[in-house]
Order: sequence, then structure tokens, then C-alpha cells
Amino acid sequence: MQQVNLGMIGGGTVGSGVYHALQHNGGLLSSRIGVNVAIRKVAVKAFDEPRPYEIPRSMMTTDWREVVNDPQVHVVAELIGGTTLAAEIILSAFKLGKPVITANKALLSKHGEELFAAAKKCGANLYYEASVCGGIPIIKSLREGFVGNRIQALYGIVNGTCNYILTRMKLEGADFSDVLTDAQKQGYAETPPDLDIDGWDSQHKIGILASLAHGFWVRPEKIYVEGIRHISVLDIQFASKLGYTIKLLGTVKKLESGCRVQASVFPTLIPDTHVLASVSHVFNAVFVRGDVVGDTLFYGRGAGKDATASAVLSDLADAALDLKLGTPSRVPPFVPHECKGAVAPIEEVISQYFVRLNVVDKPGVLAKIATIFGQSDIGISSVIQPEGHEGARVPLIFMLHYASNGAVHQALKKIGRLPVVKGKPVMLRVENFE
Ligand code: HSE
Repeated sequence: MQQVNLGMIGGGTVGSGVYHALQHNGGLLSSRIGVNVAIRKVAVKAFDEPRPYEIPRSMMTTDWREVVNDPQVHVVAELIGGTTLAAEIILSAFKLGKPVITANKALLSKHGEELFAAAKKCGANLYYEASVCGGIPIIKSLREGFVGNRIQALYGIVNGTCNYILTRMKLEGADFSDVLTDAQKQGYAETPPDLDIDGWDSQHKIGILASLAHGFWVRPEKIYVEGIRHISVLDIQFASKLGYTIKLLGTVKKLESGCRVQASVFPTLIPDTHVLASVSHVFNAVFVRGDVVGDTLFYGRGAGKDATASAVLSDLADAALDLKLGTPSRVPPFVPHECKGAVAPIEEVISQYFVRLNVVDKPGVLAKIATIFGQSDIGISSVIQPEGHEGARVPLIFMLHYASNGAVHQALKKIGRLPVVKGKPVMLRVENFE
């Protein structure tokens, strides 16, 4: 049997997870693909850094070049994260014609286009299953399983930290900051937590999925992002009364005209009856609608040593098969499409909305607000006002029909300036998956 050796850069959580998984399942994987795969060497930051699974000292080095340049290393796995050294490592491997596996979503989001071009130029390939949603095989599904479909819509709960926080807020009626502090204590949220809770991690992942789904590189700055910091228990409770659950949802949707797409990440009200509403705690899910297949759902753990190792093993099998067959792009990194797409500005994206205002309870307030929506051609589908008493402050909730984000933003600016409206209006989008 042909032998393919893996050189790993990074022996931390993910790297040691891959080592452990290959110890247990390497034989199975090798027999399935007809290629003998093994780890040859692992570059680590320090020999004694804490790692969940042991790696034999004899396999480790602190010099990544020793791994990349080793003629007996046929495939390189970049598992260190970050965007500078990681890029240097990947490009060095490509120059030697070696395929690379990466779990690095931030790097792909920032430099993906250049890295794929470099791989092509060098006759190598870049495999990145572990970069999005850990153990869920969504990259392979999009580039191979759906190759015969136009992707009409893709919705993803792709950040476990945010999903964990929102789930606990709903179940416990607890405030965002209390749940975040506890999640950090328990190791479910990073310190500082910004990358996750402000939506940037989701932006990186949604950019990769959008690029794959639509065959053009969706740059991160084109993706509109809102995180979950401003979500209050009140919003979660009113949404629940209306039959909705709030999730941080990445959306990639083909717009009706031309090749433009919506690519966004924001907290979204999802009907309780939709399957994505029941994706709870740290779990991730991606819902894909193809024009041939219809609706499909992928669910699993989006992070963690073992889930991520599973994705790296899948890439290793592909890389080994490509080496065996001499077909470096048998698994194409992207599936190009029939027309060159573009991301639509958020102002032009049409959504439905949940709006929560804090108003003075007196005659004429509702009429004034409804008039502004009416003048902006924005329809109201329902209103909730809990019982108050004249002169008191009460929450006033509106559900709005389809309207552009730009129109709703402008209307809320005017509404926010009314003396009877106290504080900044809260606006969240609603997704009914129609
Ligand atoms: N921090 C991410 C999450 C996992 O909370 O889902 C790594 O992308």
C-alpha cells in the first residue's frame, strides 16, 4: 500500500486531537482509502505546553521548517491559527508542491483568494473542512454533494459560544452579562469574548460558506455583522410570546434579481416550529436549500478537539487519495458558477422585523409611531403592548412585514426622535424561511 505521511504544525488542542484520532482510527482510514496514512512529525510551540492528549516527545520539534521541508512529509496540516505565520507556513509547503490542510477560518477569510491561487500555481491543493463548524462536513457537502445544485439559501448557527449564551438566557431568563461571565468561568466562552459574541467568528465562517455556495470570493468586509451583546431577556421573552427563538444566524441568500446575494450575520427571530430553533447550547447547524435537492440540515459540534480532528482526518483522506491518483484538484476548492456574483448592501436587503420600543403610555403614541411606519410604506403585522397605566413607561412591540433594511432604519431614526419614545429602539430581523 502507498504510504502518505502527515506533518503537523501545531500540537495543541486540535493537533493533539488529530494525533489521538489517528492513533485510534488511522488503520481504519487507511484500509478504507487504500493508502497507509501516518503522522511523521509535529511542530509545537513548546514541548511541555498543556495538551489534552499526549504526543510522543520523539515526534515533536519546535522548528516548523523541519516539518515542512522533510522529504518524508507529503501533506502538511497548519493547525496553529493566526494569519501571519500560518500564511508563511502554507505558502512554504505549496512551494514544495505539498498539499495543505488548515483549520484556520480567520486566515481563509482574510487571504483565501490568494492562498487558493497560490495552491493552483504550485499544483497543490488546500483542504479546509475543519475551518467551518468543526465536525460537520459542510465544506465537502457544498463542494461535492451539492455540485449539481444552485444554492438558493444557506442559514447557519455557526458559533457555539453565542448559541450557548442565547440558549441559557432563554432557559433561565438570565441577563447576557451574567451568562457570559459564567460561560467564561466554565470554559464555554473565551476571554476576551469579542471574536465570538460580536459576530466576527461567524463572519469568517459565513464568508467561507458563501464563497463556496456562490462560486465567488465573498470578502469579510462585505458581510454585514451584528453580534449578541445588545440582546436582552425582554427581547427573548417577547419573541417567545410571538412563537420565535432568537439565534445568531448567518444568512447567505440568493436575491431575486441577477447574481446578487445577501451575506449577513445578525441575531434573528426563528419560528419555534423551524428545526433551527431547537439547535441549542454549543451545537452548530447549517440549513441548505438547493434548487434540486430542496431543504437539507447539517447538525453537530462546531468546535472541540475531537470534532475538529474528524474534519482534519477527512481532509487527510482526500489529500492522500489525490496524491495516490495524481489528481491534485480532484476535490476542487471552489465550484465556480455561471455568473459573477456580488454581495448586496444591507440597506437593500429585504427582511421582516421585530421592533421593541420603550414608550410613555398615553393616548396617541401608538398612532404617531404607526403613522411613521405607514409613511415609509412599512406594514405592521402585529403589535403587543403589555398592560400599563397612563403616564408609565411600557414596552411596545411591533412585528413588521417585508421591507428594506434601509427603510426600516430610517423610520426607526424618526421614531427614536419622538419625545414619547425613550432610549434607542431595538430592531431584530425575523426569518420565516419562505
Ligand atoms: N469559538 C467558536 C465557537 C469555535 O464558539 O463556535 C471556533 O470557531
